[in-house]
Amino acid sequence: MRSHLCGQMRDSHIGEEVSLCGWVHRRRDHGGVIFLDVRDYTGIIQVVFDPDTVAAFTLADQVRNEFVIQVIGKVRARDGEAVNLKMATGKVEVLGLELNILNKSETPPFQLDEHSSAGEDVRLRNRSIDLRRPEMQDKLRLRSEVMHEVRAFMHDKGFVDIETPILTKATPEGARDYLVPSRVHPGNFYALPQSPQIFKQLLMMSGFDRYYQIARCFRDEDLRADRQPEFTQIDIEMSFVEQQDVMDVSESLVRRLFQKSIDVDLGDIPVLPYSEAMLRFGSDRPDLRFGLELVDVADLLKDVEFKVFSGPANDDSCRVSALRLPGGDQLTRKKLDDLTKFVSIYGARGLAYIRVNSLDNGMEGLQSPILKFLPEEVVTAILDRLGAQVNDVIFFGADKAKIVSDALGALRCKLAEDLDLFERPWASCWVVDFPMFEENDDGSMTAMHHPFTRPSGNVADMEANPLDTLSVSYDLVVNGYELGGGSIRIHEPEIQQAIFRVLNLSDNEANIKFGFLLEALKYGAPPHGGLAFGLDRIVMLLSGSTAIRDVIAFPKTQTATCLLTSAPSEIDAEQLKELGIAVRKQPKE
Ligand code: AMO
Ligand code: AMP
Repeated sequence: MRSHLCGQMRDSHIGEEVSLCGWVHRRRDHGGVIFLDVRDYTGIIQVVFDPDTVAAFTLADQVRNEFVIQVIGKVRARDGEAVNLKMATGKVEVLGLELNILNKSETPPFQLDEHSSAGEDVRLRNRSIDLRRPEMQDKLRLRSEVMHEVRAFMHDKGFVDIETPILTKATPEGARDYLVPSRVHPGNFYALPQSPQIFKQLLMMSGFDRYYQIARCFRDEDLRADRQPEFTQIDIEMSFVEQQDVMDVSESLVRRLFQKSIDVDLGDIPVLPYSEAMLRFGSDRPDLRFGLELVDVADLLKDVEFKVFSGPANDDSCRVSALRLPGGDQLTRKKLDDLTKFVSIYGARGLAYIRVNSLDNGMEGLQSPILKFLPEEVVTAILDRLGAQVNDVIFFGADKAKIVSDALGALRCKLAEDLDLFERPWASCWVVDFPMFEENDDGSMTAMHHPFTRPSGNVADMEANPLDTLSVSYDLVVNGYELGGGSIRIHEPEIQQAIFRVLNLSDNEANIKFGFLLEALKYGAPPHGGLAFGLDRIVMLLSGSTAIRDVIAFPKTQTATCLLTSAPSEIDAEQLKELGIAVRKQPKE
């Protein structure tokens, strides 16, 4: 049907007769001539219809935005002042000689401009139209390139691409499972995989040595801009390796993706132990594009009268930290109140601060509601430790360690964002040595990564002091996003059983849930380890998007619904009966 693509027309085509197909991007009537901007996936070309070519002109008069047309015409140079150097095709136009309307279109629900101002709801409900926008086309084409590059890289390195089941049994990655009822076994359910974790370990036991898969994963968890209920992992597993081997392969893959896709050299990638990341940045996925480090000051505040500080300063489960914002005196009172509200999301009960107006007048040069509660020598020691300068604001958090880390960790990111404090466009790090377990509110334990992760040190110590046990695990963080994470696994059944004991899983429960893994571990499992990257997150960063929804063709909303298909939806009584399921209606709120 077509001889050329719209976006490829250049002055080298002048004089040629071409046949082009595409959508009418815009139609303009200019004193007797009609201009149609015709769009395909390569770009836009201007087509002109002259009243002299009666049939084509008459049809051109009838087309509207998003009509699908075929144009046969002659390429010619644009007149001097009509040249548009902003358009790749802007030096030429096509004189339309013949026009075929291949399909009509109703008025689209929104204008297909590059940066659509239509609300996201409207865009998601009409996704097929939304995806026509060049911006969305670019993102999904980039995603395709990235996937191609991943496959080429992994293949070259000797990794075998193996598919693992979607209808399977629960895999513990810390979220709720999506369940699928079985018709043949009424009352029984498959779980959709939260990751291929156990299967990839089994593949190592089968001797495949190096596995990868671009794998769809499903997690019923609270959604955020960088989390979808179904998402894609670049899933990797290797045998006879140590932590550094897995980190090396994974890092070179990510470096290659950044280099090839957007010509960015990720530069030095420092390795931070988890404890250091928490101490300095209050986060296990620190954004290192800017400074603003947390500085602990509990030791200076143990004896002060101000209970808000001295309480936590004398409690091992607590933390008292300060954050110095250079030039923070520009923050208005209202802004400070907003920041206090912001940290309250993380459970902080307040956000004490000191404004440094001058460093020469002792307490006189400072301004803060809490100064009256603090002795001068303590304040001086704090200012010294933080390296305070004139015009700084110093923020304080004092509470349970987790609350302070979360609140000040988020505050430093918010300040960097609001005040544009970024010192470099890209900053990555590895975070390693995560704790093996974390404690739930009821005192029970959860594996911080997953229960197949190898604990550092010996098992007896782990069972005696689970919360002090570290694991052989590693996350790659770019610009404050956890792009991927993995670990060296347990390959001995006894160690795996010890982990289940700490997790308070009886032998019987462990057998029901993971019997097939424990069984396989008995027959010569090699030492192995791996990692999984979030593909959506990688493409989000590469394309400069702020949500992974923008790099997924048909994503779900924050409430896990698909506005396009209206999934999830009710199913009819007959189907329920067949599945042996009775739905208990939830009372309306
Ligand atoms: P983990 O749970 O850390 O590890 O997941 C690996 C990576 O997957 C991405 N990711 C997500 N992306 C979008 N939406 C989500 N809901 C979501 N959840 C996770 C993140 C994350 O770093 N089996 C282990 C890996 C291993 O040990 O090899 C696992 O799944 O980028
Ligand atoms: P209050 O005595 O509660 O009025 O608090 C005095 C100052 O300390 C206010 O600026 C509060 O925002 C701040 N503040 C209160 N609790 C905390 C806390 N846990 N951490 C940091 N600052 C706090």
